[in-house]
Amino acid sequence: MAGTVLGILGSPLPEGNTAKLFEQALKGAADAGCSTTTLHVSTLDYQPCTEMMFCKDHDTCIMDDDMQQAYTKIRNADSIIIATPVMTMGIPGGLKSFMDRCQVFYMAKYVRKEPLVTSEKRRVRRGLFICIAGMNIPEVFTGARLTAKAFFDIIDCPYQDELLISDMDTIRDIATRHDLLDAAYERGRAIGLHLNP
Ligand SMILES: Cc1cc2nc3c(=O)[nH]c(=O)nc-3n(C[C@H](O)[C@H](O)[C@H](O)COP(=O)(O)O)c2cc1C
Repeated sequence: MAGTVLGILGSPLPEGNTAKLFEQALKGAADAGCSTTTLHVSTLDYQPCTEMMFCKDHDTCIMDDDMQQAYTKIRNADSIIIATPVMTMGIPGGLKSFMDRCQVFYMAKYVRKEPLVTSEKRRVRRGLFICIAGMNIPEVFTGARLTAKAFFDIIDCPYQDELLISDMDTIRDIATRHDLLDAAYERGRAIGLHLNP
């Protein structure tokens, strides 16, 4: 079995520290035999949820923007990797709005009880959460982690694994830390190997 792994990048920096870990994780998944596809959230054109509730009765959102292609990619993915920095003790606002717009999956799954993700996909899908933070305090990932877990649940992608790296203010450049880049690669590879044992 091959399988497609979708990577969702929450950092606005295409060559930042999160992006470097993100690329390693996707490389790991590719080396395990998966095809990969990505969504760089900061490059998408979309608006935050305005609670028009169209998705209560429909499989999509009434707002016709780049979220439409995102919904398709999320539905079709065999596994999903999300990578993001912590901002203001949670995930960046753009990524949060992206997740809020995935209320279409919530309504289908919990309200209409007609999930948008097929039962076959739901069985195999797994989620990996990569998150980095400047500070080195115990609770720095609490908010981001809760949000990521809720999101993976809503999109029917069980939260399989996480790589949480604090103290980036000291590390500064992740490229100097091959152990952390290798950890991201191995986490991504494990996601791929789950699809291609
Ligand atoms: C707007 C903003 C808010 C941030 N807020 C926090 C925070 O609340 N806690 C924290 O530990 N780090 C915070 N950071 C630091 C980032 O998590 C850290 O610098 C990270 O390495 C950035 O990753 P990137 O290079 O992929 O953008 C913040 C950074 C920015 C730009």
